[in-house]
Amino acid sequence: MRDVKLTDIYQHRIAQKYITRSGIAHAIAVAYHAFQIAKEMEVDVDSAAKAGFMHDIGHYTWYKNGKWDYDLYRQNDIHAIKGAERAHKLLIRLGENPIKAKEIALAILFHTDSFLPGGEVVRTPLQSLVKLADEKDEEPGGAHHYRELDFERAMNSLEILDNKIDHYLEKKEE
Ligand SMILES: [Fe+2]
Repeated sequence: MRDVKLTDIYQHRIAQKYITRSGIAHAIAVAYHAFQIAKEMEVDVDSAAKAGFMHDIGHYTWYKNGKWDYDLYRQNDIHAIKGAERAHKLLIRLGENPIKAKEIALAILFHTDSFLPGGEVVRTPLQSLVKLADEKDEEPGGAHHYRELDFERAMNSLEILDNKIDHYLEKKEE
């Protein structure tokens, strides 16, 4: 039995505010990709899906005159750092296992190199798969952040993925 499900995360007001900001459709797509890759790599599918779902929870809005300002964003962005902390706090509040919460937070921290001054990170399998899952859903010009999905449909997709995760974990235990 998992302590926290994707639907628990999504329904929390912190997720409503911040995951929705960078695009719920993108968050869900990355969660699905992460689940799929984790199965292939034999990495914990639950942590992978959660990290994928929350990887962009740290985004700030870099708007100038009503338009997204890429220069401001590139110069000042620390969404991976902020996201790691925010996701960790949210998971702990929801009753997540602290070891798992840390593992997920670190996967979010390393899902991009954008904040690192030229350094390549040596990633764990979970950390590299979240990066890969994110890249799979990327669209030119950041369009992946703007695909819309209403609450009901988002809940529905997450419920399906929650069931896939439970089913996969149950089968593994047999
Ligand atoms: Fe992303």
